[in-house]
Amino acid sequence: MDYLEIEGGHPLSGEVTISGAKNAALPIIAATLLSDKPVKLTNLPNVVDIRTLLKLLAMLGAKVEHNNTEALIDCSEITSTKAVYDIVAQMRASILVLGPLLSRFKHCSVSLPGGCAIGQRPIDLHIKAVESLGATVTLKEGYVVAEAKDGLVGGKIIFDKITVGGTENAVMAAAMANGVTEIVNAAKEPEVVQLCQMLDMGGAKIEGIGTSRLKVYGTNGVPLEYKEAIDIIPDRIEAGTYLCVGAITNSEITLNKVNCEHIQTSIEKLESMGCSFSQDGDSLTIHPAQKLKGVNIITTEYPGFPTDMQAQFMAVATLAEDESLIEERLFENRFMHVSELNRLGADIWLKGNTAAVRPVKELHGAEVMATDLRASSALVIASLAAKGKSKIRRIYHLDRGYDRLEEKLSQLGAKITRKSS
Ligand code: UD1
Repeated sequence: MDYLEIEGGHPLSGEVTISGAKNAALPIIAATLLSDKPVKLTNLPNVVDIRTLLKLLAMLGAKVEHNNTEALIDCSEITSTKAVYDIVAQMRASILVLGPLLSRFKHCSVSLPGGCAIGQRPIDLHIKAVESLGATVTLKEGYVVAEAKDGLVGGKIIFDKITVGGTENAVMAAAMANGVTEIVNAAKEPEVVQLCQMLDMGGAKIEGIGTSRLKVYGTNGVPLEYKEAIDIIPDRIEAGTYLCVGAITNSEITLNKVNCEHIQTSIEKLESMGCSFSQDGDSLTIHPAQKLKGVNIITTEYPGFPTDMQAQFMAVATLAEDESLIEERLFENRFMHVSELNRLGADIWLKGNTAAVRPVKELHGAEVMATDLRASSALVIASLAAKGKSKIRRIYHLDRGYDRLEEKLSQLGAKITRKSS
């Protein structure tokens, strides 16, 4: 199995280009199911999760041409509406095909999802959303079987908890429904915004994009027609991760192709830790702190501090000169990186959903194990600053979501190699 070997303690410098956002690309790929014309996607990240979802679409009968950053997807002849366990178990986001398949084909079955082990991650809100539009949902042999014999009908979906994937499934389900759907307490993440813009361009008019109240005018069974290619927005989590790399290794790093508005909370937190920034168009340079200060973080929905950046900031906080407090509010089990960071010499104490990160003078290389996608990147960040060699095992988690991580870090001067054992 592949592992990463990192020799830490070396200053980095240079530029890195941020890839398209995995979490924007996934619902956008699912939304191609709403059209019977070919759709072109550009700026796709070259990561395993994207290939997994494209494979699922191909299994449903879509014609998929894919080369690294571009895909042409033709869903004109879908032959199956069953998302099988083998694929869904590899990636939880496969549940995103539920809304579009049901909306266009009036029935589908989707295996109950797997994915990152960062908590229970139920799909009850996805199910409730499609039920609000008239679907009948049953659970049969590990599959969510959804049906709307006469097609989905516009209705009111009230989320009692903000859910990114649930909102995405809801807007895709509403897109081809008969009538208008109102979605209350919708997620406002940039990835949700780009999906809504795509559906709107495709003919399902959407009001309130970027707010917590969306109104979707369904096309009454008419497939959507995306007139333009869809260029995936920059990955705000990848961008934030490289900022954390700069902060912990005391390095000046420039990110190219970044949307600074989407990473405002990460920038603000790093500023409070003593780093500074200069911006030039869509390039952003981090200037490291003289001395890193501690930080207090509470994860929450966009535009608040993202849970997907919690682990990386925890890694940076290990070398701050005073204590940091990090509270995780979205996922109950998203602290599996704590014990691994402690193996690298960190001093993190965990109580409930809050971690106290006490300052240590230095981190030291060790053998550690990646547990989920963002936890893995926290281990890479910490290893880059640790004295000596680290081995990071189970890096298939990283491959799911970070585009050419070793290549990009090597360009910055990091001593990182992928090995097999
Ligand atoms: C998405 C992101 C993930 C990110 C998360 C929160 C993708 C592919 N993944 O995941 O990287 O960490 O948003 O920003 O975009 N919940 C329920 N019932 C449901 C659905 C969710 O209780 O039916 C809960 C979850 O357990 C969690 C909270 O709602 O506590 C938010 O989860 P959600 O926003 O749905 O996350 P995902 O869409 O799975």
